[in-house]
Amino acid sequence: MKLNLKIWRQNGPKSEGKMVDYAVDNISPDMSFLEMLDVLNNELIEKGEEPVVFDHDCREGICGSCSLFINGEAHGPGRAITTCQLHMRSFNDGDTIYIEPWRADAFPVIKDLAVDRSAFDRIIASGGFVSVNTSGNTIDANAIPIKKENADMAFDAATCIGCGACVATCKNASAMLFVGAKVSQLDLLPQGEVESKERVLKMVDQMDKEGFGNCTNTGACEVECPKGISLEHIARMNRRYFEASTTGN
Ligand code: SF4
Ligand code: FES
Repeated sequence: MKLNLKIWRQNGPKSEGKMVDYAVDNISPDMSFLEMLDVLNNELIEKGEEPVVFDHDCREGICGSCSLFINGEAHGPGRAITTCQLHMRSFNDGDTIYIEPWRADAFPVIKDLAVDRSAFDRIIASGGFVSVNTSGNTIDANAIPIKKENADMAFDAATCIGCGACVATCKNASAMLFVGAKVSQLDLLPQGEVESKERVLKMVDQMDKEGFGNCTNTGACEVECPKGISLEHIARMNRRYFEASTTGN
């Protein structure tokens, strides 16, 4: 396949960026999107030019590092996949592909297509954990009964990989799908009940401080989320936040 690429290049957080044209040839339809970018970068390096900076790690849809806006869609065409799981057979020979970074004030561009998602880390650090007393004997996990319905919902929420596609795709740059998933993941289990109230208050507070927008129920985040995290987690978080801030429980 021969492809025309229009890629966002930006030297640093304060520099002005622009779309730059590149052409790649001999791209196999079986290559992943990131492998196609590797081909481009090898050619740029051979020509003595700067390679395009982009984030990646596992390349298996697990780590949440890859984060590209492709032809106007977070993680590109296709549902429930990350950029690293997108294959070139999703495109046609001769296509022009637009490749941009996540765009949100809370995710400033570091360079080219890589953005700083440490705002998510600070939200997790504010309350996305359970405090466990590790002295003495460990209680057997199976000794704590958990309702099947809650276990399933907590597990679904735990599949969030923190990629940030929900923020990038939301017109308000809202992080509520991510935060809702992280709140549910812990709140629905007995181990998370102790800090439930502080957790939701602190995580929502930190989310607001980081400059993410509010949810207006457009649902774009759920559509583009590679892990199919449900909007139900936003509703759960809102109910929990209301309870914690009004009744104190
Ligand atoms: S909710 Fe989905 S889109 Fe948002 S960070 Fe988690 S996995 Fe990514
Ligand atoms: S590189 Fe890890 S999810 Fe894509």
